[in-house]
Amino acid sequence: MSLSVLQQEDGNIIDGKATAQKVLEEVKSEVAKMKQQGIEPCLAVVLVGADPASQVYVRNKVEKTQFVGMRSLEFRFEADLTQDALLAKIDELNADASVHGILVQLPLPKHIDETAVLQRINPIKDVDGFHSENVGGLSQGRDVLTPCTPTGCIRLLKDTLGNDLSGLHAVVVGRSNIVGKPMAALLLKESCTVTVVHSKTRHLEKLCQQADIIVAAVGRPKMITSAYVKDGAVVIDVGINRIQENGKNRLVGDVDFDDVLPIASAITPVPGGVGPMTIAYLMKNTLHAAKLQHVEL
Ligand code: GUN
Repeated sequence: MSLSVLQQEDGNIIDGKATAQKVLEEVKSEVAKMKQQGIEPCLAVVLVGADPASQVYVRNKVEKTQFVGMRSLEFRFEADLTQDALLAKIDELNADASVHGILVQLPLPKHIDETAVLQRINPIKDVDGFHSENVGGLSQGRDVLTPCTPTGCIRLLKDTLGNDLSGLHAVVVGRSNIVGKPMAALLLKESCTVTVVHSKTRHLEKLCQQADIIVAAVGRPKMITSAYVKDGAVVIDVGINRIQENGKNRLVGDVDFDDVLPIASAITPVPGGVGPMTIAYLMKNTLHAAKLQHVEL
């Protein structure tokens, strides 16, 4: 079976940056409508410590929150913040009706129990979709907040293949709580046939060869070569790996882009593919959270 792919502007390369911009514009116009009704959606971002990558992510999140016209709150703490103090901050944000979304940037310092922190966030303010209430809700197919990266991947797939993904065989490479597992649940919700493969999987290459859709989220630079990909498959690359190549630092995905590009019917580049979608869907989730907290809308 050959997949019918909607025309991409740039050949078979999926432009995540352009799609993310479209999503941000959608959110911006909905935010404007909410503000007219007297509700200003608000996202609170909490950063503990000074991890350089986390600082960049948080700055980006604040910028995009402001771009879509939402209120942005940022709380930065030293790396030696106690777990109790962090939980108290979350309690305060949970109790504040003007705050609709709470995001605690990961990773947290080692002395803090990540699960305890994520579980403390009120599930209707959990814009990361990491609370077990939301994880369970997703697995039951309920209208809950779902993790931003895999939700953004579904949007890219629908923009590429059309809204009906039913019956397609999707192979998810990786089983992390942030991407692999929720990705599988979201694809199942779209009635895909889903296979999850991981580091212990036997015949991983053969399983990937059967996929109409491959979502790579393992964190292994250029692991997915053309040998893994069926002619005409759609390939979504969630990987962001920093490597040294010819003496230079380069950002590459989990897919060997140049090798797979000629055989995939559509493929996301790194950077400029999935990356920008994550933050766009964080904005969408904050809007969703605000709606869940204002049932009158
Ligand atoms: N750090 C890396 N990815 C994520 C994410 O999706 N959410 C949060 N909160 N922290 C992260």
